[in-house]
Amino acid sequence: MMISPQQPLLRSLSSRIAFQTIISLSFISVGCSPNPSATTSQPTTDSPVDPAVAQAPALRSPDVVYVPTPQAVVDRMLAIANVNSKDVLYDLGSGDGRIPITAAQKFGIRATGIDINPQRIKEANANAQTAGVTDRVRFLNQDLFQSKFSDATVVTLYLLPELNVKLRPQLLSQLKPGTRIVSHAFDMGDWKPDRTEQVQVDGGGTSTIHFWTVPANPPANLRSDRIGQRSVVSPQASKSTL
Ligand SMILES: C[S@@+](CC[C@H](N)C(=O)[O-])C[C@H]1O[C@@H](n2cnc3c(N)ncnc32)[C@H](O)[C@@H]1O
Repeated sequence: MMISPQQPLLRSLSSRIAFQTIISLSFISVGCSPNPSATTSQPTTDSPVDPAVAQAPALRSPDVVYVPTPQAVVDRMLAIANVNSKDVLYDLGSGDGRIPITAAQKFGIRATGIDINPQRIKEANANAQTAGVTDRVRFLNQDLFQSKFSDATVVTLYLLPELNVKLRPQLLSQLKPGTRIVSHAFDMGDWKPDRTEQVQVDGGGTSTIHFWTVPANPPANLRSDRIGQRSVVSPQASKSTL
């Protein structure tokens, strides 16, 4: 059977409660990378939690487990978004920082990663240091649903379908018309992508990439976080703590 790199994340959809427990445990023990085979050229995450990071003020539990985007998919996401030297990129849920770091390395642009997990921020900063891009890349330990990214010209995502839909009003209210959004694996509900592409990854699987451009006047249904009549906002998810 063909194994898709999206499967670890998809599995987490069906076992959300167990997944949240695992994430909470991973915060107090070690970094969590449920798909080590997908890890590519950037350093990975399975290092012990630094005491300074462990003592950083806790935000809340992540909405999605950390799974890195394979480097081939990162490269293709940036190509599909047509990233150029004038862009400003944000990766919302940035993990080990590979997307902002790659963008800064390849295109010399300013890039920001936002992640709720302080351990991921520490790893991303170390990776930026190794890559020699600390003058262009920054990592913010924030909840992406509380974050500001209105100066972005490109936004990258690898979250979950319901998180993309929950984020949609924020994307459409903060981002300028013409801003490009690229999502690894997951779509955005009623907001149909301008383009969808399959990418071959090492190991024989495929990954899906979706691409949107922010319209000048988004229709009202896209400015809400509802799919049909059902809101995807989970009060439970936003109230939970580490
Ligand atoms: C599937 S990983 C993607 C990592 C990276 N973007 C990539 O493609 O390699 C999702 C990341 O989102 C982070 N995350 C989950 N919920 C978040 C939230 N509410 N705010 C910020 N980051 C969050 C997790 O800590 C994790 O690092």
